[in-house]
Amino acid sequence: LTTAAVIPAAGRGVRLGPGAPKALRTLGGVPMLVHAVRALLRARAVTLVVVVAPPDGAVEVRLLLDSHGLPEGKEILVVPGGATRQDSVRLGLEALPDDVGTVLVHDAARPLVPVDMVDAVAAAVCEGAPAVVPALPLADTVKQVEPRDHGPEPVVGTPERALLRAVQTPQGFRRDVLVSAHLRVPAEGEGATDDAGMVERLGTPVVVVPGHEEAFKVTRPLDLVLAEAVLARRRA
Ligand code: C5P
Repeated sequence: LTTAAVIPAAGRGVRLGPGAPKALRTLGGVPMLVHAVRALLRARAVTLVVVVAPPDGAVEVRLLLDSHGLPEGKEILVVPGGATRQDSVRLGLEALPDDVGTVLVHDAARPLVPVDMVDAVAAAVCEGAPAVVPALPLADTVKQVEPRDHGPEPVVGTPERALLRAVQTPQGFRRDVLVSAHLRVPAEGEGATDDAGMVERLGTPVVVVPGHEEAFKVTRPLDLVLAEAVLARRRA
């Protein structure tokens, strides 16, 4: 059985400010999505990457990937995505060929993930874990609040920081585990923001492996500044 990666890249990236879909914004002159695809294809185990493009942008994304000359001997499929991340991942899973046994799901918005971290997640699944997430301890203390549209939000509680982890991607899964989570967990509101959360809801154990600072998600304008600096340091 083989290992494939699904890269949801259909988000508009509203929090990053106006402009192109987030995955197509450039870092060091190269679209974030191209960085993310390269990072996953560098992993030894990964033989196929399924890129989930904006719903009306699959042809454009295909042309973009072809124009960046990605490695020989590895396959890239491009499929149109959906309205939420959860829909986009499900559409990516539906495109997987039969021989795929392990699936890594990786946000296009984490373009600088180190290959060693990708390898470690894939290895943990191959060694028997049904679901694996890379994660880091938190720097900030976290409060749970009662959300309000206007005015100060009341604090409801403070979870003990030492027990919390911030999770990253790629998250790794046995294919059957992730597919059944996407079939059985309903999409509510904005849908699931992470795949392991859906697997947890089915009662399947999920384990954490060490994440990496450079696997951060590019979400807000300041993240672009940080990503450019990391890239410049790597190229120096
Ligand atoms: O919005 P957020 O940063 O959580 O998005 C995480 C990833 O999910 C991004 O790579 C984004 O392109 C993707 N996504 C998607 N389809 C959507 C929304 C987000 O593929 N409808």
